[in-house]
Amino acid sequence: MDQIKEKRKIIVTGALPYANGPVHIGHLAGVYLPADIYTRFLRKKNADVIYICGTDENGVPITLSAEKEGISPKDLVKRYHKIIKESLKKLGVEFDNFSGTSRKIHHDLSQKIFLELYEKGYIEAKTSKEFYCENCKKFLPDRYVEGTCPYCDFDEARGDSCDSCGSWLEADQLINPRCKLCGTKPIKKETKHWYLLLDKFQGKLEKWIEKKKWRKTVKSYLKGWLKEGLKPRPITRDLEWGVPVPLDDAPANKVLYVWFDAPLGYISSTIEWAEKIGQPERWKDYWKDPNTSLIHFIGKDNIVFHGIIWPAIIMGTEEFTLPDEIPANEYLNLEGKQISTSRNWAIWLHEYLENFEPDFLRYYLCSIMPETRDSEFKWKEFQERVNQELINNLGNFVNRTLKFTDRYTEGRIPKPGKFSEKDKKMLSEVNSIIDKLDASLSKFNFRQAIRLLMQISTTGNRYYDQMKPWESRKKDLQRMATTIYLCSHLTHVLGTIGKLFIPFTANKIFSLLKLEEKEWDKLKEIELPEDHKTGKIEPLFKKIEDTDIEKQLRRLNMTHVTIDDFTKMGLKVGIIEEVEDVQGADKLYKLTVNTGEKRTLIAGVKECYTPEQLLNKKIVVITNLEPATIRGIKSEGMLLAASSGDKISIITPDEDVPAGSKVS
Ligand code: 2FM
Ligand code: ZN
Repeated sequence: MDQIKEKRKIIVTGALPYANGPVHIGHLAGVYLPADIYTRFLRKKNADVIYICGTDENGVPITLSAEKEGISPKDLVKRYHKIIKESLKKLGVEFDNFSGTSRKIHHDLSQKIFLELYEKGYIEAKTSKEFYCENCKKFLPDRYVEGTCPYCDFDEARGDSCDSCGSWLEADQLINPRCKLCGTKPIKKETKHWYLLLDKFQGKLEKWIEKKKWRKTVKSYLKGWLKEGLKPRPITRDLEWGVPVPLDDAPANKVLYVWFDAPLGYISSTIEWAEKIGQPERWKDYWKDPNTSLIHFIGKDNIVFHGIIWPAIIMGTEEFTLPDEIPANEYLNLEGKQISTSRNWAIWLHEYLENFEPDFLRYYLCSIMPETRDSEFKWKEFQERVNQELINNLGNFVNRTLKFTDRYTEGRIPKPGKFSEKDKKMLSEVNSIIDKLDASLSKFNFRQAIRLLMQISTTGNRYYDQMKPWESRKKDLQRMATTIYLCSHLTHVLGTIGKLFIPFTANKIFSLLKLEEKEWDKLKEIELPEDHKTGKIEPLFKKIEDTDIEKQLRRLNMTHVTIDDFTKMGLKVGIIEEVEDVQGADKLYKLTVNTGEKRTLIAGVKECYTPEQLLNKKIVVITNLEPATIRGIKSEGMLLAASSGDKISIITPDEDVPAGSKVS
């Protein structure tokens, strides 16, 4: 933690998430959560720190997803920027700024930096033959080509990498390449691209990396790249969406490669922040000061970009500070399998938040953070750790302390007597845990840090059990008072440290205690005001029930149905016999449907169908869903419909079949 002692400015960044889908637990455990905890820690220590992020809105990942969803890249980016921003906020991730790379401020900066490097001779144009689809009439950059991976034979490897074995690929290496859009075998066609001459930075990068004390995995990965010798890399693409190449001889639809512009998003987001706070030059205090500590939280698939390509760009401009730390995390798996967005094997943050407390996820993810090796999210373990550790340990300690105060000391923290040897021993134990915790956080050991937080409440519980205030209350009031006084101090400490990891719970603790949080450097001091009245008591947490977890497991497993599962679905043809409005709901109808027997369905199709269009329509209904109560009405099934963007189209049989016919 030399940065703080040396009063350096600090920029913490979280890798910009692609705005092509919501964020999931893998992103959280890898990047946004550790970065948030770390920034909260630095803020507590009064460091001059900003936490910068935004969505990555350019490049092939965006255009491909937009095509898949049938909307424009602009609309796609708008949709997911909003979902990502809001869900991270609800999780308590506190950015100083959250921008997006399709904004003008970012385009301007990226073009400026490109030109600077170009003028300094670090970028050169070259013509080459690239994959082109004659059917789609377009070039096929990066993931627009698919084929067999030359290393592992995986059949769906992409033009830039293989999802199965994790190798970085050039499209040329793919065996049996095909167009991702139409499956056609592409031809090779000449096109002009601009290359970043990475080879010019080889020596400088080697010296720079050698001095860094980064995680072993990060350093050895980067050294591997350097050992092979850096080569010029194309930093432009043939694409209709992105930052246009700012040169007169660049044809239309020639844009910067997303990995050239994305990291510049850290700077453009900081510029946006400075403008927002009304000090437009302020960003320079951070980025243009070589003494600033720049800390990039990323996942391991981003290491080469943050450790080689991005530093080369910075070295080329000679304008900005270089990365100081790159605490890259490994991967988080889910229930025995790799998280896969395309196969929907994931837990999406915005969906999680509809069902559980944000702090439960923060707690569990921090305790299994993949810091040095891959780790695994298991719903059952999530339940156990939250119930047994967070609730039974920490929650229990806070509850019993405050309940006791409420009942036996008139809701006031009692005045203590002289501390006994046992009191002092407990305090010194806690104080040494605080030191260890501080050191763990400084070294990005978040897993260890949250374990240490729990050790404080374990120590508190043990002390409470030993001191038995429920007994001393009857025979030694002074002893009882000292015990409860010290337990209240521990609660205050738990709240203050807890604020980094489980901020919503911490705020509850402060409102129960009716105290402000402590200063970090006064954690070991006991600062309870005399005769202090605490707030209204209520439990900190509600336990996670088995049924809550079963529901999540069912949902996850539903993404991989077997034929058996499918035949169990009870699909039948139904005729809509009545259509009614649902009071106060703009999107819903109440339908009475005959599927051999009459049933009520609540369907969200009002924005696309009038009652007349629906009446007597034949539809397909899942008849054996567990009934759900929606707006007070029991819905006994679900109709099938296709959706694209805002459009909804109800599925109907194309021949006249009677109501109740089985669909399979
Ligand atoms: O891998 C990713 O999800 C990228 N969108 C990360 C970009 S990080 C930065 F450079 F912007
Ligand atoms: Zn094609």
